[in-house]
Amino acid sequence: MTYRTLERKIKGQKTSDGDGVKLTRLLTHDLQKRLDPFLMLDAFGSDESKDYVGGFPDHPHRGFETITYMLEGRMRHKDNAGHEGLLCSGGVQWMTAGKGVIHSEMPEQENGRMEGFQLWLNLPASEKMCAPSYQEFDAQDIPVHQTSNGIVVKVIAGHFLNTVGAVQRKATSPIYLDLHFTTGSKDLLVLDVPGVLNAFIYVYEGCLTLESDEGQETLNQGEMAILKNNGDQVGLRNSSMAKAIVIAGQPLGEPIAQYGPFVMNTQQEVMQAVRDFQQGLF
Ligand code: CO
Repeated sequence: MTYRTLERKIKGQKTSDGDGVKLTRLLTHDLQKRLDPFLMLDAFGSDESKDYVGGFPDHPHRGFETITYMLEGRMRHKDNAGHEGLLCSGGVQWMTAGKGVIHSEMPEQENGRMEGFQLWLNLPASEKMCAPSYQEFDAQDIPVHQTSNGIVVKVIAGHFLNTVGAVQRKATSPIYLDLHFTTGSKDLLVLDVPGVLNAFIYVYEGCLTLESDEGQETLNQGEMAILKNNGDQVGLRNSSMAKAIVIAGQPLGEPIAQYGPFVMNTQQEVMQAVRDFQQGLF
């Protein structure tokens, strides 16, 4: 067994989306090929209501999955098929947009902290036009593994040791873990993340080190690390009260054609998505 090493660090781009929600886009368009099957990762986090209160009014999606993980705050989701849900602190919504949904994601709070992530995961060509579906998990429904030294591993997708995550997806085999090293333990945490999976780590609090035979790399708060496709495990050690997400998945190796919220394989399919949306076919 060998540990995967650092390829590069990413700081992300400050931007806004929806109705003026401030966020940091960590997985940007230029990384889509490198981090296939993932298309986007946004981190949002603010104590100022003006940074989030506009939310994400009605907008469409086709051809992929959106995964919203709320660390703190409350967001109401509604769609054009009558589906509605409230996402609260620690909860996850895994939406498979498939052939198309129009939905809104609106904060259900006017003050306090709103923090979390939205990840876009591609669908293989054979599933892009599947029926839309949702999986929703409250905080207590996310399986948690606690190590003997108090490191907490929340398993949103894939698995950690014998803890099976909330979601499993066949084509992309995603792993989505939220790690909390808040007991201060300095023991090495070893994750099985085979080199065939594209993988990245984002430290959202504190500071971590990535360990390998080549040495140590410090990952500070707000930094995303893309891992090389070498080795079969990831070695992480707490430096200072770290919290981090680890995301990995099986690349699809298919062409990516994107126009805003539509992600298909060809330009023609994307134009069809725009026409279908405009003609009210979603
Ligand atoms: Co959306």
